[in-house]
Amino acid sequence: MNLVLMGLPGAGKGTQAEKIIDKYSIPHISTGDMFRAAMKEETKLGLQAKSYMDKGELVPDEVTIGIVRERLSKADCQNGFLLDGFPRTVAQAEALEDILSSFGKQIDYCINIEVDKAFLMARLTGRRICSNCGATYHLEFNPPKVADVCDRCGGPLYQRADDHEATVHNRLEVNMKQSKPLLDFYRQKGYLRNINGQQEIDQVFADIDELLSQLADH
Ligand code: AP5
Ligand code: ZN
Repeated sequence: MNLVLMGLPGAGKGTQAEKIIDKYSIPHISTGDMFRAAMKEETKLGLQAKSYMDKGELVPDEVTIGIVRERLSKADCQNGFLLDGFPRTVAQAEALEDILSSFGKQIDYCINIEVDKAFLMARLTGRRICSNCGATYHLEFNPPKVADVCDRCGGPLYQRADDHEATVHNRLEVNMKQSKPLLDFYRQKGYLRNINGQQEIDQVFADIDELLSQLADH
């Protein structure tokens, strides 16, 4: 299955992606994670991405499209993939169509997790991430059993640099502006499936899973 996971920052893409890849064993391709890994290693890509991410701006299309093209050409994407946080502009969506058609593929679903903006600020500023395995928590909505320690691996939790209040405002603005034309693009193609992201985490997954199990049956 070839999937695109969409939603504003904090909608729950990363949280649901963990569950989808656990069940369906497809690679999780998160452009945000790829940029953060490059930043940690201080590569040229990382330094380039950092200047945009620190302000909550989008990394330029040509940079982002290049890394996705390279990633999708890897062997593990043969039987499907889950794109998380890409595409984020219509130009990226068009480039994705071209990349996939060059491999004789197309998207099955664009899953859009819908959450009101009013909830997103609290979700983002309260988020904590395991520095060892990348698992996502929330101080209030999804706390670890022991404060600041990952349930899965015991690693220490940290707060993402762009989750501080000052940056979150701009991230939401920037992403809201991009999102409408992108949703129109996928609606017109018939790929768009909206999911109510304002439910319990497990219920959101149950709704996504209902959609995906139909796909897996075919
Ligand atoms: P990226 O890493 O993609 O971040 P994002 O889109 O801002 O999304 P987030 O990871 O913040 O949120 P999420 O939807 O995954 O939410 P989560 O599951 O963690 O991008 C970062 C930056 O990289 C961008 O700003 C840009 O600069 C750059 N970039 C990346 N891709 C790019 C592209 N294609 N083009 C250009 N630039 C790009 O959940 C959030 C919190 O809520 C967590 O604490 C979680 O526990 C909690 N939560 C989740 N679900 C629920 C629920 N149902 N109820 C209650 N709490 C919940
Ligand atoms: Zn961990």
